[in-house]
Amino acid sequence: MVQAEAANPGLLRFITCGSVDDGKSTLLGRLLYDAGMLPDDQVAALVRDSRRLHADAGEVLDFSLLTDGLDAEREQGITIDVAYRYFHSARRNFIVADCPGHEQYTRNMATGASNAELAVVLVDARKGLLAQTRRHTYICSLLGIRHAVLAVNKMDLVGYREEIYAPIAEAYRELAAGMGITDVHCLPVSALGGDNVGGRSPRMAWYGGPSLLELLETIDAAPRTAAEFRMPVQWVNRPDQSFRGYAGTVAGGSVAVGDEVIVQPGVHRAHVQRIVTQDGDLTHAVQGQAITLCLDRELDISRGDLIADAVHPAPVADQFTCHVLWLGETPLLPSRTYTLKIGTRTLNARVMSIKYKVDVDTRAQLAARHLVLNEVGYCTVGLDDAIAYEPYAVNQTLGGFILIDRQSNATVACGMLDFALGRSSNVHWQHVDIDKAVRGQSKGQRPLCVWFTGLSGAGKSTIANLLERRLHALGYHTYLLDGDNIRHGINRDLGFTPEARVENIRRIAEVAHLMVDAGLVVLASVISPYRSERRSARELFDTGEFIEVFVDTPLAECERRDAKGLYRKARAGEIPNFTGISAPYEAPEAAEVHLLAGGGRRADDLAGEVGAYLLPLLGGAGNVD
Ligand code: ADX
Repeated sequence: MVQAEAANPGLLRFITCGSVDDGKSTLLGRLLYDAGMLPDDQVAALVRDSRRLHADAGEVLDFSLLTDGLDAEREQGITIDVAYRYFHSARRNFIVADCPGHEQYTRNMATGASNAELAVVLVDARKGLLAQTRRHTYICSLLGIRHAVLAVNKMDLVGYREEIYAPIAEAYRELAAGMGITDVHCLPVSALGGDNVGGRSPRMAWYGGPSLLELLETIDAAPRTAAEFRMPVQWVNRPDQSFRGYAGTVAGGSVAVGDEVIVQPGVHRAHVQRIVTQDGDLTHAVQGQAITLCLDRELDISRGDLIADAVHPAPVADQFTCHVLWLGETPLLPSRTYTLKIGTRTLNARVMSIKYKVDVDTRAQLAARHLVLNEVGYCTVGLDDAIAYEPYAVNQTLGGFILIDRQSNATVACGMLDFALGRSSNVHWQHVDIDKAVRGQSKGQRPLCVWFTGLSGAGKSTIANLLERRLHALGYHTYLLDGDNIRHGINRDLGFTPEARVENIRRIAEVAHLMVDAGLVVLASVISPYRSERRSARELFDTGEFIEVFVDTPLAECERRDAKGLYRKARAGEIPNFTGISAPYEAPEAAEVHLLAGGGRRADDLAGEVGAYLLPLLGGAGNVD
């Protein structure tokens, strides 16, 4: 992250979009060279390498050599985030985010775009606008860029002809404007020959506009700033009893000593007593500055809270509409729990629905059940807790988020908050006096959820049924939630696609949770093939209340039993997405009870095994055996 740039009005942060084939490295190299920004030793190396590689071409400089080092690293599979280059001309300072053009690097592009005011989009004059041009422009616009420069490159290969350039420029203006990019500039260049890069080209006299460098020097693209004071708390600095400060980077507006602030998502207020920085105290700080705030009252503030202008606090909500750019190798599954990071806050979130996905080529809105790599969707998202936020269009830091897969820890999406859903602030939690403990007590038991997972035909339902009979005989109040049965009722609308199963498991877990709250001992028998959803189910419950039982019967044995004849059908290709055959089963890694249920073991004994584990936990009298 680059800080304090807001204080430098001359700075322009831009991103270059396009692929190596379009001549991106050459253009960037040429720009740096023409701006006089290459150190002497780099120029010397460039001359030497160019001569060696292009001995027959005379005295040409191969500018792509300057950035090829990065490409080499990419090819070796070294993860490169975004290469930021700092340079300046006589008139302006620049930070350019050089992002690789390949599809799989959309993540880097998104990172680069979120830190830029302007995009330089490169196309090959011979090819014109490509799907990639539309993609890149759309992603830039999604991430808030409102200024674009289209460089139509390789004009030397089309005879520097205006008839080639003009329609491309025209089409791009229309494309970019349609995506909300309000300020569009186009120019014809030859990066190789340096035409219209650092200076105007005599070979394209028909183009009366500025060179790329001139354009970048003069374009009025102010850094994106937000009006109201906002500072997400990064950490609480408390070296000893005498000092307590809240450290963070100002993410919007400004703050002065004496200002009243509010700590959100709560309601407590205080006045700013000191603004501490490494270089001494300030009376006033602005967006982009890293500061530590001391307040005149002791408040309970921790990392992830927002300190905001008390007169104009940020809205607070826990459900939103948002754009999601999916970057994961595995698809986005609605209802799955992901870790969401926004500002300095980290919490659990679910995409509740995909309203539509966007065909990046045509920008048509299409129905979608999931999103795959590089797709963009407009979604509703629900968080476990309320947060203080702003729409991304108002404040990038408070409205921009990423999603992280909880199994792999990979960043799988970036997102932009739009609006809070009305229900988010209009539905409140209603307190009730009779709670789970009281209900459990009146039944003489500790309410629990026993979650049986395993392949179809593993014996889950048989064992759960036997166990319920025994518990019932002992006077316990139970309920058995059986996957098959529930699919006849509340889950009748769900099939067996990954997203349907995620939702199936989510609903069953929610129902089990309600029943445990009602004081019951709940047995759930459901394949629940994904670790991620079993973990989410577990997290609904209090510690020790969720007991996972892995009914571990080898696939071959399930298939041999084939009580319902489904394996036979699945093998014949009549049932798609069949667990174990054409859909995965992710075995538990740390189930409370691991039943080795194959090899002809009796269901009665297996039920006894679970009962023996359960009984000491349940309270009350009785013996399961
Ligand atoms: S889950 O995967 O979503 O957890 P659930 O336990 O509710 O599955 O339902 C599984 C039952 O549905 C199986 O016992 C089997 O009878 C039936 N079934 C029908 N199609 C499939 C399928 N494609 N994969 C697995 N089970 C299926």
